[in-house]
Amino acid sequence: MAKWIKEADLAAYPELSKAEAAEALRLCAEQTAANLPAFTDRFPGAASIGGYYAPGPNLGWTTGFWTGELWLSYEASLEEQQKAAFRTAAEAEAASFLHRIEMKTEVDHHDMGFLYSPSCVAAYLLTGSEDAKRAAILAADQLIARFQPVGGFIQAWGEMGAKDNYRFIIDCLLNLPLLYWASRETGDPKYRDIAERHIHTAMANVIREDDSTWHTVFMDPVTGAFDHGATCQGYRDGSAWARGQAWGVYGTAVAYKNTKREEYIGYFKRVTSYFLNHLPKDLIPYWDLTFGDGDGAALLTADGERRYTFGNIPGEEPRDSSSAVIAACGMLEMAKYLPSDDAAYYRSIAKKLLKAVTDTCLVTDATKSNGKLMHGTYSHKSPYNTCRPEGTNECVIWGDYYYMEALTRLCRPDWQIYW
Ligand code: GLY
Repeated sequence: MAKWIKEADLAAYPELSKAEAAEALRLCAEQTAANLPAFTDRFPGAASIGGYYAPGPNLGWTTGFWTGELWLSYEASLEEQQKAAFRTAAEAEAASFLHRIEMKTEVDHHDMGFLYSPSCVAAYLLTGSEDAKRAAILAADQLIARFQPVGGFIQAWGEMGAKDNYRFIIDCLLNLPLLYWASRETGDPKYRDIAERHIHTAMANVIREDDSTWHTVFMDPVTGAFDHGATCQGYRDGSAWARGQAWGVYGTAVAYKNTKREEYIGYFKRVTSYFLNHLPKDLIPYWDLTFGDGDGAALLTADGERRYTFGNIPGEEPRDSSSAVIAACGMLEMAKYLPSDDAAYYRSIAKKLLKAVTDTCLVTDATKSNGKLMHGTYSHKSPYNTCRPEGTNECVIWGDYYYMEALTRLCRPDWQIYW
C-alpha cells in the first residue's frame, strides 16, 4: 500500500464550500464564546489534555493565538452584544501583552511574532489602540535584539551566542511579519532590514535538495556558514517534521508578500509540493511526513462519525491537523500574488485540505472538548528527537487559531491579515 497520495490525486477531492466554511466559523465563534469565562484573565495552554485546555498565565510562546481567536470571533460576529464581549476580552488580553513585554516576562526567545501579531497587531488594526501598537513595537525591538550578524539570522532560543544555541528554526519565518509591520508603522527600516537578512539566510539553508526542510539550522559562529541541520520536534534529523514543512509553506508566502522577490515563489512551490506529496489518503498529515497510511488508525468511524480520541494511542503514529490548516493559510495567502491559474490551483487545494479537517477534526460536540480542531500534535517524542513530549493527538491552540484564520479567509477574501 502506498503511504502517501500524489499531489495530482488531489484533483478528485472535494472542496469546502463557502456555506460549509461559514457554518464551521460560526461553530468556532460559538466555542470561543462558551470559553470566555475561563479564558479572559487566564489563557488556554498550548495543547489540550484529554480534549480540554486548562487555564494558565500569559507565559510561553502560544498565548497570542487565543487572543487572535478572540479577534477572529469579533470579526465573524454579527450580533452586537456578542461582538462587544469578544472585543472586551481581547482588549483585556492585549493589556496583558503590554504588561508582559514591559516587564520582559518570558520574552528571551524569538517567538515575538507568534505572541504579538495575532494579539496586539490585530488589536491595533481593528481598534486603533495606541497601547497595543506600543506593545507590538516593543516586541519587535525585543525580536531584533536576537539578531546574529555573523550568519545573518535571528537566534531562536537560549543564551545569545552560545555555540549549542547558535541556530535559527524554520518557524521563525512567521515571526518576521511583525518586523515588517514595525518598519511600516515607525518609518524606521531597521526592523525590515533584519527581517530581510534572516529570510535570506533561511531560504539559502533551510530547504533541502528534495524540497523537504530542516526544522533547525546551526550556523558556524566564526564563519557564519551553514554548520548542520537538526530536528527538535520531528521524527529524526533528516525527516520532514510536518509542522516545520507547513511553517515553510506559510513562511515563504509571507516572505514573498513582504519582499516580492520572484525566487521565493519557486521556494513556496517546492516546499508546498513536498507537503502535498506526503499526505495520507484522508489528507490529515501525520506529525512527521515520514509516516503515512498504515501508520495510524482512521479518523472517522465506519459510520463516518468523528472519532473523539485524545492523547497518545500506543502503536499509532499521531496526526498533526494544525499542519494542514497552517499550510492552507499559506496557500490562500500566496494565491493573492500569483497569476490566475496558479492562484486558482492553490486556493482549490487549500479548500480541499479544509474540507478534510472540517469533516474529520472539527469539534462539533462541545461536551467532548473545549477546543476547536482535534488531532493536533505539539511535541511527540521519538527515539531520535530532542523535544520534551507534550500534546500528542490533542487540540493545539495554534491549530484552532489557524483553522479559524483559514475559514475567515474563505468567508471574507478581503480579510486584512494580522501577520
Ligand atoms: N513553533 C513551535 C511549534 O510549532 O511547535
